Amino acid sequence: MDDPRLKVLLVEDDEDDYVLTREFLAEIRGDNFELEWVEEYDTGLEAIYQDRHDVYLVDYRLGKGNGLELLRAAIAHGCQAPIILLTGLGDHQVDSEAMRSGAADYLVKGQFDSQQLERSIRHSILRKRAERDLHQQLTRISLLNQITHAISERMDLENVLNVVLGQLELHLPIEYGTVYLFNLQAGTLGQAASRLKSQSPTAHMISFDELAVPIAETGLEACLKGELLYEPEVVKTEASLLKKLVQTQMGSAVVVPMMVEKNLFGVFIAARAKANGFSIGECEFLRTLCEHVALAAHQARLHTQLQSAYDELRQTQQAVMQHERLRALGQMASGIAHDINNALSPVSGFAELLLRNEQNLSEAAHRYLNHIKTASDDVAHIVTRMRDFYRKREEHQPLLPVNLNQLTQQVIELTRPRWRDISQQRGISVEVKNDFDPNLPEIIGTESELREGLTNLIFNAVDAMPRGGIITLRTRVGAWAYARGGSKTPSHVVLEVIDSGVGMDEETRKHCLEPFFSTKGQLGTGLGLAMVYGVVQRHDGAIEIDSAPGKGTTMRLIFPVREATETSFIEGPAAAVTVPSMRILFIDDEPLLRELLKEILECDGHQVHVADSGQSGLDAFRAAKKDGKPFDAVITDLGMPHLDGRQLAQILKKESPSTPIIMMTGWATLMKGEEDLPLHVDGILNKPPRITELQETLRRVAERRDGGAVP
Ligand SMILES: Nc1ncnc2c1ncn2[C@@H]1O[C@H](COP(=O)(O)OP(=O)(O)OP(=O)(O)O)[C@@H](O)[C@H]1O
Ligand SMILES: [Mg+2]
Repeated sequence: MDDPRLKVLLVEDDEDDYVLTREFLAEIRGDNFELEWVEEYDTGLEAIYQDRHDVYLVDYRLGKGNGLELLRAAIAHGCQAPIILLTGLGDHQVDSEAMRSGAADYLVKGQFDSQQLERSIRHSILRKRAERDLHQQLTRISLLNQITHAISERMDLENVLNVVLGQLELHLPIEYGTVYLFNLQAGTLGQAASRLKSQSPTAHMISFDELAVPIAETGLEACLKGELLYEPEVVKTEASLLKKLVQTQMGSAVVVPMMVEKNLFGVFIAARAKANGFSIGECEFLRTLCEHVALAAHQARLHTQLQSAYDELRQTQQAVMQHERLRALGQMASGIAHDINNALSPVSGFAELLLRNEQNLSEAAHRYLNHIKTASDDVAHIVTRMRDFYRKREEHQPLLPVNLNQLTQQVIELTRPRWRDISQQRGISVEVKNDFDPNLPEIIGTESELREGLTNLIFNAVDAMPRGGIITLRTRVGAWAYARGGSKTPSHVVLEVIDSGVGMDEETRKHCLEPFFSTKGQLGTGLGLAMVYGVVQRHDGAIEIDSAPGKGTTMRLIFPVREATETSFIEGPAAAVTVPSMRILFIDDEPLLRELLKEILECDGHQVHVADSGQSGLDAFRAAKKDGKPFDAVITDLGMPHLDGRQLAQILKKESPSTPIIMMTGWATLMKGEEDLPLHVDGILNKPPRITELQETLRRVAERRDGGAVP
């Protein structure tokens, strides 16, 4: 205790006792005491409330009230300095009562001398200080507990830091707290949280640093080594990061490194308006606290990273599952399409035959047959769309540079009757806007497919806006590829169809790409988006859907930008030519189809022999050859039991390489590009066979045969 002069307040109504006390204190060596005297209870209490003294000497008998009451009132008011009660001889009751009520000591008047007074004062002060320190320690431990408990329950970094700052502001308390996180790779400090006591007059002056600063420029490099920095007077600071605190009238600051496994994780800064505002105990407390906070913050960050990794994984998993589901559905749809095709072929084929060849049909029969034809054409159209969903890109499909801006503009024009005219008739207004990137690179693709896909999207958008609205067609570069020298080229383009319509709920959004999923009842087949999905897949692209009920929908198609390597074209349908009469062997296990094809071919003047299986076809082929009347061409179904079309073609080609073989299958489009594409085939025909298609294929193979082009 080398404090210069201890301030003593004597509350005493007897002047003699005051004089005596003054003399006692004067006797003590060193003139270390400064005595102030008040006579009355009220003035005494008032002086104590002002908290200007190091110790109080209070007389028990004080006229109006007594010393014990004053003691209790002072302690209740939060008096921290020791109070020594001066009692009369024989007041033992009072003495013990005083000690119980929080007096630091008591002295019996007339029984103490100068030395005893000094000892009592000094011990009381020492004890009080020890008590206060202990109390502070306990408070800090409990604060530490409170904070660590609070942050252990929180799993995101921002939350953890804000809890710490909030608790410190309230309980330490500090006026300003901030946390910078250290980026190890970049060597920078970036501000992650900050809190200024709200009633502080400088509240508006501390701005949040958006930019990370290299630690070397902050003046806080010592933190890298885990060193705590105490700046008792921030006005004098050398550290540039702390200079900002001066403007905000902070007087002192503590900078505590937050270390995780000996590496700097972040820096915590606590500040107070007062200079020399932090005690050693507080600095130590902050250091201990930051050890815990660093760990919790580190955990929280790991947790967040883990969480986002999980989310990403889940999304990928969902995307894969969705893809698989669509693939399975696609296969199923193709299977169904195949069966429907087989069943449908005779219906449309015979109807067509009757219409072409029967001269004596009544008008009604003509009409009915036309109805049958139209109906089966409609079914065939649905089947084609269904197959479109799953089919792979055909080799002969044209892959040409496509300008999506031009194509989109075309589709806007083409669909105008639907979005404008029909809507106007219904008294609603649908507006179509474009927002094209003029520098959009071309993609490689098939225009007709893309056009149809986009048309479907626009129709859906119109359907989604029963009360009208706006459709925006937007193109832009979606991603860039960076070359070594830093130059960048577009790697993906994005085409968005954005509507302001009713939007989709989560369930619809999840299933809308599936074939036959529709919420439009009779008005929709549910094949539109399945078809779009197929188109996008065949362009190696992706679809993203942003939609929420009442919030409209954005359908986003993303296509890769690629160089056109090879381009090919579909051979356009040739003008109908009469095919010279041929001897044709037709093999199919379906009786109706056999009959239909026989009829069609015979009508065109061919001689037709039919066989109902691969084996009987092969027998017939060999027999004809043996008889010196070989067939000019063979048309065979692909899928047959025992000896299928592919195996048959292989045998036939071996035995008679020059005989053209035409394979007929509902899977024609699927087979292309497959590994097991029949090698020995000169032409492929779709089921149901359209008469013109059949004629055209026969013409081609006949020409090739005559020109000797067959391998
Ligand atoms: N832009 C959109 N806004 C809201 N819902 C949509 C949108 N586009 C598609 N949908 C939802 O997705 C479903 C499937 O769409 P899809 O185009 O495949 O079939 P459809 O429009 O019902 O019938 P189809 O296109 O075969 O006539 C729709 O029935 C509808 O519920
Ligand atoms: Mg649709």
